[in-house]
Amino acid sequence: MVHRPAYDAAGAAALEIQGLSHGFGKVAAVDGFSLRVVPGEVVCLLGPSGCGKTTLLRLVAGLERVQKGSIAIAGTAVATPGRDLPPEDRNVGLVFQDYALFPHLTVAENVGFGLIGGSDAERKMRIAEVLDRAGLTEFARRYPHALSGGQQQRVALARALAPKPPLILLDEPFSGLDARLRDQVRDRTLHLLKQSGQTTLMVTHDAEEAMFMADRIAVMRAGRNIQTDRPDNLYYHPANAFVTEFFSDVNRLKGVVHAGVVQTPFGRLDAAGLADGTDAQILIRPEALKLSPADGRPMAEDAAEARVLAARMLGRTSLVHLCTCRQSGDELHLHARVPGRFLPTEETVLRVGLDRAQAFVFAAGQD
Ligand SMILES: Nc1ncnc2c1ncn2[C@@H]1O[C@H](COP(=O)(O)OP(=O)(O)O)[C@@H](O)[C@H]1O
Ligand SMILES: [Mg+2]
Repeated sequence: MVHRPAYDAAGAAALEIQGLSHGFGKVAAVDGFSLRVVPGEVVCLLGPSGCGKTTLLRLVAGLERVQKGSIAIAGTAVATPGRDLPPEDRNVGLVFQDYALFPHLTVAENVGFGLIGGSDAERKMRIAEVLDRAGLTEFARRYPHALSGGQQQRVALARALAPKPPLILLDEPFSGLDARLRDQVRDRTLHLLKQSGQTTLMVTHDAEEAMFMADRIAVMRAGRNIQTDRPDNLYYHPANAFVTEFFSDVNRLKGVVHAGVVQTPFGRLDAAGLADGTDAQILIRPEALKLSPADGRPMAEDAAEARVLAARMLGRTSLVHLCTCRQSGDELHLHARVPGRFLPTEETVLRVGLDRAQAFVFAAGQD
């Protein structure tokens, strides 16, 4: 069953952040940030440590006072400079990194904590429903200290979901879990949020986690919203080098723009919008390099030959370290990522082609 939140009908954004700025002394933690989240959406705020993600979440929750800009939740203005609705009046569910469960309350009591109004019977029913959906029914009478990390995380999430808030905020909710468990908990969390139609703003510094969880991702840097889009659009159409590199390692080349293109060892790349003579940086994802045997056929203009320096199987992919030996003498060290097991021996010469959809050209020095 898919629950649609009641406010859906109003057509208002679940969250509307406009021109939000927040400083701590001289540090601009949040800088002119805008974002609109529609009902039922899971949006991830993704950025490096210290870029202002937690500050932004705290502003939305009402734990920091707004200095500049505005925040509206489900169509209600909750914060503008000089007017801040207190956190308890914002109807926002919160899940922090450390879960912050009440140690002296059972799982059921924790989950029921935010349920105010309604009869006892209604309250009990809602607790039972949420416990069931979170797979926590058998732990209802336990205390938090008798739960594993993953179970505690589920209780924190269930507690946030129980009052059906128009918005829940998650701050690095999986960072306290070890890798294998984290994958399971993430998966459960995604399905729980989606089944409840729960609008969510989640903070993470992990691009893969953001892509796993999010309908859309807002990439944040130094307090600013750099690019907001669907994960696949961010991956294939990054706005700049910073966004490109946030989603994978890249091979970096240099070039100069002539007549709208830059020359690379793998042929020309479109440099749309860059003026003639511009110094360009070329970013190529490792999976964009297509390897095949160098069989002595004449080289096409858009392929190069490269020598294998090393090859390592990394699990789902193999990483091949290559060296191009260009006429000019300066060698290019490249990483190619190939699905599955591909382990050519050292010194093998391979033909290297390029998937242009995963090669990006930006002006040098701009990111
Ligand atoms: N209460 C505070 N007092 C002073 N500086 C702070 C405070 N909270 C955060 N900052 C600073 O604001 C910037 C953004 O921090 P934060 O929002 O925690 O980033 P993130 O969650 O992305 O790691 C950092 O430079 C941090 O040191
Ligand atoms: Mg943080």
